[in-house]
Formats: sequence, structure tokens, C-alpha cells
Amino acid sequence: MTERQQRKLDHVRLAVDWLGLPSGAAAGRSGAGWEDVHLVNHSLPELSLEEIDLSTSIAGVSLGQPVVINAMTGGAAGVTAINRDLAEVAADLGLAMAVGSQTAGLRDPGVAESYRVVRKVNPKGIILANLGSDATLEQARAAVEMVEADLLQLHLNAPQELRMTEGDRDFRGRLEAIARIVDELPVPVVVKECGFGVAREAAVILHEAGVRAIDVSGRGGTNFAWIEDRRAGVTEADPGLENWGIPTACALAEVAAVGLPGLDLIASGGIRYGSEAAKALALGARAVGVAGPVLLRQQREGAEGARAYLRQLLADLRTAMLLTGAGSVAAMHRVPVVITGFTGEWCRLRGVDLAALAGRSEP
Ligand SMILES: Cc1cc2nc3c(=O)[nH]c(=O)nc-3n(C[C@H](O)[C@H](O)[C@H](O)COP(=O)(O)O)c2cc1C
Repeated sequence: MTERQQRKLDHVRLAVDWLGLPSGAAAGRSGAGWEDVHLVNHSLPELSLEEIDLSTSIAGVSLGQPVVINAMTGGAAGVTAINRDLAEVAADLGLAMAVGSQTAGLRDPGVAESYRVVRKVNPKGIILANLGSDATLEQARAAVEMVEADLLQLHLNAPQELRMTEGDRDFRGRLEAIARIVDELPVPVVVKECGFGVAREAAVILHEAGVRAIDVSGRGGTNFAWIEDRRAGVTEADPGLENWGIPTACALAEVAAVGLPGLDLIASGGIRYGSEAAKALALGARAVGVAGPVLLRQQREGAEGARAYLRQLLADLRTAMLLTGAGSVAAMHRVPVVITGFTGEWCRLRGVDLAALAGRSEP
């Protein structure tokens, strides 16, 4: 087994360990900031639960539901079954699904099947290809072709790479490479973080480069600094680096507040419940991404566990939407949101108009 293939297996094992920790994302204290984000109860919703329209779109691609199974795996024979299970669930529930970074599949055609299985199981679904932001246009084309993808995710993960013994150390030229791919690729590109958060400054630069979809993927969910420190055998981790990043609610609120025209936002990183997905939509996301919690259920209870978890999340999202009086994702963007505590303070200092968000009155 190559070092890269071993890494794929280590990531799955350690992500599950992380999620099982008492303070981990699965334990009800995500640290993504959702506890500071409050939706306002609407006592007279003129809506029926069945009527709530969950459809949305990202960069012009229509999604039946505003929930994406986010990028996780592929690249080793041992993870093909995970992708097969997740693709089956995505097909059943009509969810978009991203594959994990395809660099391994491009370098070693022997493991390409671990990604292709996602398209085979779900021939009509929305699938996102995934590569690092150092990818070339040729690699981007090949990754899209491998899974017949509808969109391509390019991930940014400098904090993770720097904690990896074998990781990248030179991050120059990424913006230019992204801009070229955005310009030339036949499918839309989503630039995503990996649990460290996109700040408004980075969002502005990406938008200027032509990017029209960003997954802010903030801190508070699966923590790849923690995972890489465990892989590297670090015993006394620097807590400031191991908890590096912008909490998801903060990242989303500050990027949304800039109001960049034509930019579609996805929120991921520590989204575990339907009510949190609803809060993310209210803060301006058009969809949310969920990764680790789905993997955890798949590893413990197979496809059935992942399906039951996501079905509940969608049902709870629908409930939260009705309770705010919003019948659609677009209406969620207009409901009042009250942001308090650390997240409120962060937002205030970073220029978010908290009173305007709290004062919105039209679902
Ligand atoms: C096992 C595992 C592998 C991951 N691999 C990738 C990857 O290859 N590419 C990527 O963009 N993100 C990857 N991620 C990051 C997720 O897509 C997501 O941004 C992050 O886990 C935060 O979301 P969560 O809290 O819902 O897990 C991976 C996550 C997990 C749990």
C-alpha cells in the first residue's frame, strides 16, 4: 500500500475517533458557533410542512435538497465501500455528494474505481469532483471526467498541510491556478476550506478571480489539525494551532455580509442537526455540507445508519423552516436572526450589521 493510500485509511479512522470524543462534533458541543445563532419563532406560519420547498441551486446547478454529503474519501481499495454506501444514501435521499480528493485516483488508475463507484451507484445524481487548489487544468478536467461530475470542488487546507509531515510547504500561485480552472473548466467550481473557515478577505479575492461558489467550511466540526497531529504522533500539541480556524457561523456571517454579487455560499464544518442547517440558511448559505457525522454513522451502522441520520436532519430542517415562517431557501435568507455571545462579538468587530439581521421581518 502506498503512503497516500495509508493516509486515506488513517483519515477515516482518526475522523471517527475525533467524532467519538466527548468534546467532538458528534457530542452536541460543536464550537462552530450555532449556539450563538438564534432563529425567531413565528407563531402564525401560513405554511404546511409538506409544502416547504427545499430545492436550491449552487452556481447554476439545481439541487433537490440544500444538503450536500461533503468531500471525504476515495483513493484506496479500503474506502470503496464507504463511497458506495454514501452514494446509495445520496441517491435515495436526492442529495448531492462530493468525493474526496482525487489526486490519488489521477496518480494511480488502480484506485480510480474507489471514486467511480459513486457515479455508478448514482447515475443521475449531482456529484462534485474534488482536488486540492494546486491542481492543474488538465487534472481538473480528468477529475471531473472520472466521476462525470456536475461541479468541481477545489479545496484550501494550508493549516492541515502544515501539520502533516509530508504536507505542502509552499502555497504560492494558488489563486492564479484557481482562476484558470474557473475560466476554462466546463463545470462550475466551488472553492472550499476543510474545517478552518474562509474569511471575508479571502472571499473577496476569490470573487475577484471569478469564483462564484464558496464552501466556507469553518472550525467546529471535524478537526484536521487534531487528526494530523495524531498521525504525526505529536504528544504536546500547540493548542492555538490545533484549534486554528474561524468558527463556521462566524465565517459564514462575515462572508455573507460582504454581499458579493453572484456568489453562492455553502456552509460546512460542524453542521450536525437540521436546526443548525436552518441557521446556516438564515445566515445566507444556499446549502450546507455534512461530512464527519455521516461518516460516523456509516462506520457504525452502514448505509442504513447514514440514511437514517440524514433523513432526520432533513426532517428537522423542514420543521425549523416552518417554525421561522419560511417556505423556501430564498425565504430563509430573509428571516430574522439574532447573533449573541462570542459569535455576535466576532461578527460585530468584523463589520456584520447585527441589528439589521435581527430586525429582518419578512420571511
Ligand atoms: C475522513 C474525511 C476525509 C476528508 N477528505 C477531504 C478531501 O479529500 N477533500 C476535501 O475537500 N475535504 C475533505 N474533508 C473535509 C470535509 O469535506 C469538511 O470540509 C470537514 O470535514 C468539515 O465538515 P464536518 O464537520 O461536517 O466533517 C474530509 C473530511 C473527513 C471527515
